[in-house]
Amino acid sequence: MSTASNPSVPHDRILILDFGSQVTQLIARRVREAHVYSEIHPHDVDDAFVREFAPKGIILSGGPNSVTEDDTPRVPQVVFELGVPVLGICYGMQSMAEQLGGKVEGGHTREFGYAEIRAHGHTKLLSGIQDFETAEGYGMLKVWMSHGDKVTEIPPGFKLMASTPSCPIAGMADESRGFYAVQFHPEVTHTLQGRTILNRFVLELCGARPDWEMGHYIDEAVEHIRTQVGSEHVILGLSGGVDSSVAAALLHRAIGDQLTCVFVDHGLLRLNEAEQVMETFANHLGVKVIHIDASEAFLGKLAGVTDPEAKRKIIGAEFVEVFQTEAGKLSDARWLAQGTIYPDVIESAGKGKKGAHTIKSHHNVGGLPETLNLKLLEPLRELFKDEVRELGVALGLPPAMVYRHPFPGPGLGVRILGEVKREYADLLQRADSIFIETLRDTIDPASGKSWYELTSQAFAVFLPVRSVGVMGDGRTYEFVVALRAVQTQDFMTAHWAHLPHELLGNASNRIINEVRGINRVVYDISGKPPATIEWE
Ligand code: XMP
Repeated sequence: MSTASNPSVPHDRILILDFGSQVTQLIARRVREAHVYSEIHPHDVDDAFVREFAPKGIILSGGPNSVTEDDTPRVPQVVFELGVPVLGICYGMQSMAEQLGGKVEGGHTREFGYAEIRAHGHTKLLSGIQDFETAEGYGMLKVWMSHGDKVTEIPPGFKLMASTPSCPIAGMADESRGFYAVQFHPEVTHTLQGRTILNRFVLELCGARPDWEMGHYIDEAVEHIRTQVGSEHVILGLSGGVDSSVAAALLHRAIGDQLTCVFVDHGLLRLNEAEQVMETFANHLGVKVIHIDASEAFLGKLAGVTDPEAKRKIIGAEFVEVFQTEAGKLSDARWLAQGTIYPDVIESAGKGKKGAHTIKSHHNVGGLPETLNLKLLEPLRELFKDEVRELGVALGLPPAMVYRHPFPGPGLGVRILGEVKREYADLLQRADSIFIETLRDTIDPASGKSWYELTSQAFAVFLPVRSVGVMGDGRTYEFVVALRAVQTQDFMTAHWAHLPHELLGNASNRIINEVRGINRVVYDISGKPPATIEWE
């Protein structure tokens, strides 16, 4: 998280000091969604760092500790001396209260989850923002709380800004100094007005210029990559996924022919995907791409294997093998580029182990920097997924590619249940493509969006069982496909999508009529948990 900041970058910036909350990255995301540049740094950065960072405002995150104990984190004193607005959230509020002369006590019960808070004092942070009004006319906010300790005495100079029955001091402010603090979490979507509150803080109270736009970011990133790489050569494993595609387009913009992409086609991609990747990168953008059609090798190794984890391992290992062989031929290469993004960096950082960032090993390139003796280049490691997509479009990638649903590394290998055969992959690719086309073509009148946009992930699954059907005058005995479509924020939990029956009917008719070999289509109505999104 504490990637060195670059003060020469000409953006107004918000500094987020991390006290160890699970949701600190959401603060940065919300600020960036307001088009203001923000960085997350550990709470114990030194004073010189904070001054040099020159923030327009500072946000103090929540955290798991208690300020009632010694040796727990405190806010660097410079934060209160810089003369910029400060917003403390949860632990950030408690440490602000304690350090500025108030009092914090250990709660006897933890308060966790939904709460309704009453706003007081018409502070600039909350005035005019509410979810509903009580019968007495008080403005109320629906928020999400998670805390044990609470502020029991307001520091001198502060006034009460918010309260709940169980947490009478749920917000406080010293408007003369621009200090605001809330016990609830405005960064999570469960706090309905959270985004509005953070926007108010960043744009109005801090007065930060909303100039963080991916279109402008390209120039900065290009400059940075050129300085880093010099005249050396870079290899990148292109998978057709969003992250590696955008990384390739950005690197190509920066260093042109010094970039070589290796695209390993395992034969288990979506219909026409290999052609699309080559068309976009090699033909349209002029990127050097080595296309390895390794489907024979992959399918050969998968023959007879039915266990899902064994299939994953075989595909992963074969990927590394093929990539390594190709990369080994490029004797000039000094760098291996990967599409690591900011959430990968944050999620892989060991909790409490500041600076000890282990990079998530993508199944297809895990361990390669060591075996190939290459330096690691991660041009997207400061960006959130939404920003990666915006950047991709700004770099000229087709929006349909950039806004695609996620696709697992092992591809159709985990969507053909049991043994993988080329015949099954061919049937599945066609059925899947019809389903996706139907989702793209069916518009929901209420939102004006297509069902592809309204779902987070959708695909067909091949079931290697035959069932009896009738077509014309004849009896058929053919395979089954299941359709799966889910809606989710984070892919950790998911709901099955309530697709219109007509859409399902159209997809089913087309699949059965157009894909000879399939005579039955079923729809998966399982949530996650207890089911997973993929079938294997
Ligand atoms: P599950 O099935 O675990 O899927 O609910 C959650 C998300 O992860 C994707 N997924 C994978 N991605 N390699 C990947 O790169 C894999 O082996 C793999 N398995 C599942 C899945 O598509 C969904 O988006």
